[in-house]
Amino acid sequence: MLAYRHAFHAGNHADVLKHVVLAELLRYLNEKDKGWRYVDTHAGAGGYALGGTYAQKHREYEAGIGRLYERDAAAAALPAAVARYVELVRAFNDGGALRQVPGSPAIARALMRPQDQLRLFELHPTEHKILASYLGEEAGCEVRLADGYGALKSVLPPPTRRGLVLIDPPYELKTDYAKALNAMREALTRFPEGVVMVWLPQVQLVEAAQLPQRLKASAEAQAKKGWLHARLTVAEAGERGFGLMGSSVFIANPPHTLHGTLQPVLPFLARELAQFEGAKGFVEKSVAA
Ligand SMILES: C[S@@+](CC[C@H](N)C(=O)[O-])C[C@H]1O[C@@H](n2cnc3c(N)ncnc32)[C@H](O)[C@@H]1O
Repeated sequence: MLAYRHAFHAGNHADVLKHVVLAELLRYLNEKDKGWRYVDTHAGAGGYALGGTYAQKHREYEAGIGRLYERDAAAAALPAAVARYVELVRAFNDGGALRQVPGSPAIARALMRPQDQLRLFELHPTEHKILASYLGEEAGCEVRLADGYGALKSVLPPPTRRGLVLIDPPYELKTDYAKALNAMREALTRFPEGVVMVWLPQVQLVEAAQLPQRLKASAEAQAKKGWLHARLTVAEAGERGFGLMGSSVFIANPPHTLHGTLQPVLPFLARELAQFEGAKGFVEKSVAA
């Protein structure tokens, strides 16, 4: 049942978009001293070695972080948020060559402060084992072998009422589309002022095409500070309609500065990570955001 392994895709264009935005959201939370809680419903292994068999199979990172990593930030005029993300990845590699990429838990770990908490859920026993050995003993971190959808009630709202929920399912099963939507709804019911981020794939499936609209309608009804949607398209659909053309991140209750921060990022990533001439990126928001 649990066939998905994120190591095959680590560092690809979708990870770049997701992790650039995730890091910006956490930095925004760090602008106030009051502690926050980060909830990762689908945490993965935490970080990924690019030399391993899985990552080497399709070398997806080469058309993702690989295109940005060696660039001189100033000379290449990287948008500030992208430059900050590349710096995080560089720190994860001790400043050396690109050998590993941080997953979402490692990014949160890098940006957390003593007063902050990480609540990480992962259902695959092997991924969980790796994550638990990486962060399970760290102060402020809890790693659980559990269904992230079902776990929201145990961790929301955070005691400080400051926090971020990342909902990042594999979407290998079509049921993940409805579950991701319901998870955002549940998170906003329990924590209406919380920042909730959903990652979604751009694939040729009716469920995928409908999800952004459904997320918007729910966020309009529930989120106190509106929503933001950033979409990056880098590839054409493969033969018979298969393949990941791009991805989106949807954020309920985004910080008011996020739209401005991401405006130069999406066209930049579309240009730099393009796999065909029609690559494009945009960011849109609700009136309330
Ligand atoms: C896209 S990957 C996560 C990537 C990670 N969030 C990151 O950005 O580095 C999805 C993960 O969800 C796990 N998974 C699948 N169904 C799950 C569930 N119901 N609850 C928790 N984890 C699940 C998979 O084993 C996989 O490791």
